[in-house]
Amino acid sequence: MQAYNFCTPTAVYFGKGKINVLPEVIKKHGTRVLLVYGGGSIKKQGIYQKIHELLADCQIYELQGVEPNPRITSVRDGAQMCKDHNIEVILAAGGGSVLDCAKAIAAGAKYDGDPWDLVLDNSLVKDALPLCTILTLSATGSEFDWGAVISNLETNEKLALISDHLFPAASILDPSYTYSVSAYQTAAGGCDIMSHIFEQYFVLGSSIVNDGLCESIVRSVMINTKKALEKPDDEQARSELMWASSLACNGICSLGNTPSPWVCHAIEHELSGYYDITHGIGLAILTPRFMRYSLNDSTVKRFANFAVRVMDVTPNDDLYSVANEGIDRLFAFYEEIGVPMHLKDVGIDDKHFEAMAEHAIKFAPLDMAIRPLDKDDVVAILKDCL
Ligand code: NZQ
Ligand code: ZN
Repeated sequence: MQAYNFCTPTAVYFGKGKINVLPEVIKKHGTRVLLVYGGGSIKKQGIYQKIHELLADCQIYELQGVEPNPRITSVRDGAQMCKDHNIEVILAAGGGSVLDCAKAIAAGAKYDGDPWDLVLDNSLVKDALPLCTILTLSATGSEFDWGAVISNLETNEKLALISDHLFPAASILDPSYTYSVSAYQTAAGGCDIMSHIFEQYFVLGSSIVNDGLCESIVRSVMINTKKALEKPDDEQARSELMWASSLACNGICSLGNTPSPWVCHAIEHELSGYYDITHGIGLAILTPRFMRYSLNDSTVKRFANFAVRVMDVTPNDDLYSVANEGIDRLFAFYEEIGVPMHLKDVGIDDKHFEAMAEHAIKFAPLDMAIRPLDKDDVVAILKDCL
């Protein structure tokens, strides 16, 4: 195994009714609060009202309307509000987009220039306001990690902002808040969690410990996504998805592995950057094509192991047939949960593939992938997805 440092400074409060810890976790940092949320789902569920009830003696300012695939324009607005109102702590209530936007605001509030500078050069993040989160959608892992992903519509860029300063101080994870997530977003969330695992699992150097963690998370997400689609208020299913969401993107499942450039994420961010599609859907479309493209004599054993251990393929001596059967079954799973599995189904043609591939290569070291990729490889994978 390779050497690593690891620390997750986020306090987690998991379970039904845990929102009642809010006054305690917020007031630790102050009483001047910026509440960040999206298009209104937290109002429909009563979370918004509960926040105001619990924090009645705080001064709450609000940034509402954060978009899926959060925009730098919202980050700029939020950072300015923090400066104008001397905000002491940020409270984000929503899915990954809201949490990500709040993270970027937290960093932007402590930076003198345009927050987009921080996205382009993450090393400029030297400090951030404390952030508490209330998660309402199991998908990104933003509630338990140090990353945010921000879009700039003017430049067609969707880029990661990663810094140790961006771990939430506390995250409230109440699975019952996810009962109202639509079937489409539930499926997309499951695909995103699985992709976070695949990005760490499909490397040449891993360990039995990490492989076991990864394999059980993918199995859990496949089983529980289907259960949540059948019965949206299935408490056990929603709970497992929420726990899996947090575990999958926090880095803990690949400590000591050889590094991975997160190929599908790098390419998906290009798709979202140009077309504003749902992140998990883009990942599901890309993943089987990436896997198939990456099959070669050095990688086939790894893909065959995945097929046997996760997709229940019967092992035999023909590793390529085992690996391909595993990929076929994964594709069928995505179709079964309702994912449109071709780019043309989500309104994307090949018009920008060259530019996307060039940008993906520039921002992610795709030459370090399990099968090293260059620009032409990325274009080939995208064409396979049409
Ligand atoms: O805006 P509201 O009204 O809240 O509605 C949202 C939104 O329309 C809705 N929703 C959320 N919780 C709900 C709900 N609807 C009903 N009931 C609830 N309980 O769902 C829609 C999608 O929300 P969004 O936050 O966009 O989804 P998700 O959590 O999948 O976040 C996606 C974003 O996170 C980024 C993605 O790129 C994308 O921009 N990622 C962040 C990562 C990270 N921070 O580590 C890693 C990921 O790989 C990913 O890139
Ligand atoms: Zn993701």
